Amino acid sequence: MTPRRLQQHWDKLGKEDAMWAILTDSNRKGGRWTPEEFFAEGRNEIAAVMEYLRKHGAPPRFRHALDFGCGIGRLSQALADYCETVTGLDIAPSMVESAQKWNRHGERCRYLVNGTPDLRQLPDQSFDLIYSNIVLQHMPTAMSWAYLGEFVRVLMPGGLLCFQIPSEPSGTLIGLLLRILPVPVVRLIRKMDMYGTTPERVKAIVEAAGASIIDTQSDTAAGPHWKSFRYLALKPGKAWL
Ligand SMILES: C[S@@+](CC[C@H](N)C(=O)[O-])C[C@H]1O[C@@H](n2cnc3c(N)ncnc32)[C@H](O)[C@@H]1O
Repeated sequence: MTPRRLQQHWDKLGKEDAMWAILTDSNRKGGRWTPEEFFAEGRNEIAAVMEYLRKHGAPPRFRHALDFGCGIGRLSQALADYCETVTGLDIAPSMVESAQKWNRHGERCRYLVNGTPDLRQLPDQSFDLIYSNIVLQHMPTAMSWAYLGEFVRVLMPGGLLCFQIPSEPSGTLIGLLLRILPVPVVRLIRKMDMYGTTPERVKAIVEAAGASIIDTQSDTAAGPHWKSFRYLALKPGKAWL
């Protein structure tokens, strides 16, 4: 899948039923998420993330956060409660347009379209927190690996990078089928492509880019048919610990 095709795919989903494309609860298909419930999910998730970061010695507030793959701003809006500014970046213009519509933080929260397989529009060392959930799993590995390196580039020294990415299909029956079925067949039955990267590879990429993985946790963000992990990385520099 090329960046252009990926963009077209998500742009279409963003126009059709963005909330369901982001949180694919089968009971919510067809516009059945209410905005209140949808954004409350984001606030709950970010409250738990902040608690997790604090357990690792992070400060209660951050200066500049990047929400990579922001969708319509479910997490960016919640991050703005803990950060001076938030930049939400997404490949899909339709998602960014909706995010702007749902923004309740004015200029403290900005949304940008990013259609390139890098973050060239963002300067080096711009963020002290980068967060990404249920995004890197949906792009070919060459692309997600390039973004991991870019995250470290745009992270300030002493900054934290927290992201989720699955490793491989799980041991469920569907997980086993996902391992053996050809991609075109999988696409017939599943709406979104999924790609995995092993924890060893994640560690090697992040370390080569100049940060260290300081925690790895198994998580359920990719659903029951994929093994998934949340990683916390620190870029060396001015210590916050
Ligand atoms: C499942 S949604 C998650 C949205 C948001 N992270 C959340 O949890 O509310 C995945 C999002 O990633 C975006 N996305 C996919 N590939 C991307 C890429 N290469 N760069 C930036 N955003 C991307 C999609 O447009 C979509 O909005």
